[in-house]
Amino acid sequence: MITVQPITSGFAAEVGDVDLGKPLSVENLAEIRSAFTRYAVLVFPDQTFDDESQLAFARNFGPLETTVFKQRKDHKLRLHENLADVGNLDADDRILTSSDRQRLYNLGNRLWHTDSSFKRVPAYCSMLHARSIPPIGGQTEFADLRAAYDALPEPTKRRITGRIAEHSIMTSRAKLGFADFDEDERRAFAPVPQVLARRLPDSGRMSLYLASHAGTIRGMPQAEAEALLKELIEHATQRQFVYSHRWRVSDLVIWDDRCTMHRGMEFDDQRYKRDMRRATVSDVAPTCEQMGLAVAAE
Ligand code: OGA
Ligand code: MN
Repeated sequence: MITVQPITSGFAAEVGDVDLGKPLSVENLAEIRSAFTRYAVLVFPDQTFDDESQLAFARNFGPLETTVFKQRKDHKLRLHENLADVGNLDADDRILTSSDRQRLYNLGNRLWHTDSSFKRVPAYCSMLHARSIPPIGGQTEFADLRAAYDALPEPTKRRITGRIAEHSIMTSRAKLGFADFDEDERRAFAPVPQVLARRLPDSGRMSLYLASHAGTIRGMPQAEAEALLKELIEHATQRQFVYSHRWRVSDLVIWDDRCTMHRGMEFDDQRYKRDMRRATVSDVAPTCEQMGLAVAAE
């Protein structure tokens, strides 16, 4: 039996007595999946992975995504193409210089977001492993979008039900003044429709579905859409909905991208190495399809 120790009452828990670097028993996997239905963030301390064993564990949860950096012809990948490189190192393990494109792109992780909501079929969950961490700073914060949904006033719930937002990675990057996308990327990153509120099939709970990637809401004037998105993100990231994770080397943290947002916190990235590798599992279908909403072509 694994142990599941709540960190917060219904959002984050720590899981012990399991070695994820080895093939998992059917029972242990079922226990983890059941804990992951209740808690949207699970912390597994002391996990030793290489890239292959991290990927093998992640594949238990579904098909894996390919890193967005693969789109870019001039980018040399440091890691396996199924791992997102969210640290501050280049292909030779040196600290990225302050003007490096990969660093500037990854600064978008400092904005509240959920992974891959800019893909038609977005992420189900993300699995981030800490290989090396700075001595101070660099926490990751997580917001519970199920609890945030539950706490919304009824008129707001009604206002967002059935609404569709458009998400693009270029929207979140533009918020930091980053616009260095080539033609292939612009095509690949065209906005995609996502519901604003969704029901999770496993727990049956409702959740907001938000990210800094969201820029417009279909059928709503732009100013009103931006105001609403901003208000919803502010609502959902109040302290009572947030768990802040202070990393230890060899932590694996997995989160449910369907019902959380997260952001990376600042650290001295010109001084300390932070090597963090993320495997990401795709969801089963577009969110509009899951919610039974017909999407007109734009
Ligand atoms: C991610 C991410 C933030 C961080 O891995 O998807 O946004 O703290 N990470 O590294
Ligand atoms: Mn992320």
